[in-house]
Order: sequence, then C-alpha cells, then structure tokens
Amino acid sequence: MASRGHRPEHGGPPELFYNKNEARKYMRNSRMIDVQTKMAGRALELLDLPEDKPCFLLDVGCGTGLSGDYLSDEGHYWVGIDISPDMLGSWSPSCSAAVP
Ligand SMILES: C[S@@+](CC[C@H](N)C(=O)[O-])C[C@H]1O[C@@H](n2cnc3c(N)ncnc32)[C@H](O)[C@@H]1O
Repeated sequence: MASRGHRPEHGGPPELFYNKNEARKYMRNSRMIDVQTKMAGRALELLDLPEDKPCFLLDVGCGTGLSGDYLSDEGHYWVGIDISPDMLGSWSPSCSAAVP
C-alpha cells in the first residue's frame, strides 16, 4: 500500500492546502518556480509532441500558471483548470485570464 501523508495535499482537500499562502510561495519562491518549470518540461518530453508544431494543451492543476508559462515559451497554446481559487487568483502576469 502506498504510504499516505508524505505529500501535504494528502492531509486534506487540495483547495484548502493550496490557499493564498501557498499561492504566494508559487509566485515568489525561486525554487518553486524552478520545480514547476522543470516539471512542465518533463511533461512535454513525455508527451513527445511533433516538433515545430504548436499544440493546444490542457493543464489540469494549472495553479498559478507557472507551468503554463513554460508551455507558452515552448510555443504551445494552453488552457488550464484548477480546483483552488487562491491559486487561480495569483496567476502569473503573462497569463491572459483567470476565472477563480
Ligand atoms: C503542485 S501544484 C501545481 C501548480 C502549477 N503547475 C503551477 O504552475 O502553479 C498542484 C495544483 O493542482 C491543483 N489540484 C489538486 N487537485 C486538483 C483537482 N482534483 N482538480 C483540479 N486541480 C487540482 C492544486 O490546487 C494546485 O494548484
């Protein structure tokens, strides 16, 4: 059986863990920004999309849009959804719209 409780969001509903405080960390903490950017890069690698062809992607759990920023930088279009209004409310300035 997988061990529970190691990831903070296992302690309660994600919309409670990903609150204003957590959202602030995503926007200000350079380590957090680096991790999200690297994870988005790895996700693109795994998707193995056709080269030099912009794709339209769905970012489930898009949070503050840091991962989406990476997708845009790589030339893709994307739309994101997230369960946390606080994360959506702290969207990266380069994202065009957020509806918490
Ligand atoms: C590790 S964070 C990823 C943040 C995001 N990649 C970014 O760039 O800010 C995980 C995100 O998934 C969201 N999430 C968790 N469970 C979800 C669910 N069931 N449906 C939608 N979003 C969810 C959380 O609210 C949180 O914003």
